[in-house]
Amino acid sequence: MKDILKLNAISPLAEKTLGKNYKLVENSTSPVAVMLRSFSMHDYALPESVIAVARAGAGVNNIPVADYADRGVVVFNTPGANANAVKELCLAALLLASRGIIDGVEWTKTLKGDDVAKQAEKGKKQFAGHEIMGKTLGVVGLGAIGVQVGNNAVRLGMNVLGYDPFISIDSAWKLNHNITKIDSLDNLFEDADYITLHVPLTDGTRGLINAKTIAKMKDGVNIVNLSRGELCVNADIIAAIKSGKIHSYITDFAAPELLNVQGVTVIPHLGASTEEAEDNCAVMAAQELVDFIENGNIKNSVNFPACSAPRVGKRRITVIHRNVKFVLNSITDIVSGAGINIENFVSQSRGDYAYTILDLESDVDDKLLAKVCACDNIIKVRKI
Ligand SMILES: NC(=O)c1ccc[n+]([C@@H]2O[C@H](COP(=O)([O-])OP(=O)(O)OC[C@H]3O[C@@H](n4cnc5c(N)ncnc54)[C@H](O)[C@@H]3O)[C@@H](O)[C@H]2O)c1
Repeated sequence: MKDILKLNAISPLAEKTLGKNYKLVENSTSPVAVMLRSFSMHDYALPESVIAVARAGAGVNNIPVADYADRGVVVFNTPGANANAVKELCLAALLLASRGIIDGVEWTKTLKGDDVAKQAEKGKKQFAGHEIMGKTLGVVGLGAIGVQVGNNAVRLGMNVLGYDPFISIDSAWKLNHNITKIDSLDNLFEDADYITLHVPLTDGTRGLINAKTIAKMKDGVNIVNLSRGELCVNADIIAAIKSGKIHSYITDFAAPELLNVQGVTVIPHLGASTEEAEDNCAVMAAQELVDFIENGNIKNSVNFPACSAPRVGKRRITVIHRNVKFVLNSITDIVSGAGINIENFVSQSRGDYAYTILDLESDVDDKLLAKVCACDNIIKVRKI
């Protein structure tokens, strides 16, 4: 039985998914892998025995990803595992942006006396709103979350515009055919009654919503930002709310200037905060680890390429190496030179690193592995 070290509390479903060959433990001197959520690994002494780290969640800035790549430790994350949670909050945000629900509820709490029902009836018109059916929603970013938001908005009767110049084939397959593909963000800004952001924070997306882009939008536009606070220039949003250009801004990212501004709703980063999302992340992280430990397959790594193959042959060798010339020749020369037939061979690279899987017709001894290990630019070799 192998130890998987957990550096945070992880949903019990992880242990169930790992199965009987693994023990999820809080202490171990020789764990094969690590699971964590937000624990900072930057000053952590990673045991030599660890071959993989799995973060139950998407962001990996708590993990020294590049250092681990150099050591041949594969880091996994769980993209999309919390997408449904964020999608549901986004749908709620669209409704909150349209109806005076929050203000109305707050106002109702202030009512006193036996005739509150009568007072409520009399005062409710100040909170009347709009329906989202028939309105136009612009979805910026059609990844795991954006696709689900767009598809569900179509089901709610919205006209949905989607913008994502880098859309993956997977996302494109999942996208409802009623979503209109938009090639220019300006066109989306001009036509949308609601805009929702589902892009990562990068140099290209930082400050995406600013005075200039807001000027291109419809008067009374509603903006939902559950992605990252820095995608929007808060001062410009507030100015536009005050001028009436923006009707409402709903964000999952608190900032001092956003609090207590009429028209701004700040949610305390609840996007992925559901029990189900935590379960999904834990299950996905556990599945990624098991498939890597037992089959050497890499899926959803943030420091090595995706590289998987169905098992064939008697023995599998996996090699983590630098992405430079002649490494593959060295590996195959050694294996073939020992008279071993390579039944299947897959190799993928990503930046400075590459990963190679060889399925062999017969078993190999440790001497041969040591020979492969000793070649230039080889980082780690495993026999599975
Ligand atoms: N509020 C929360 O708790 C919470 C939880 C999960 C994710 N998030 C945020 O949501 C974002 C989206 O998550 P996801 O799981 O859908 O990610 P994802 O990687 O599946 O999708 C992101 C999409 O954005 C697209 N994209 C990148 N740059 C773009 C650009 N300049 N213009 C248009 N599209 C662009 C990509 O092509 C990709 O399809 C994450 O980056 C994260 O910041 C927030």
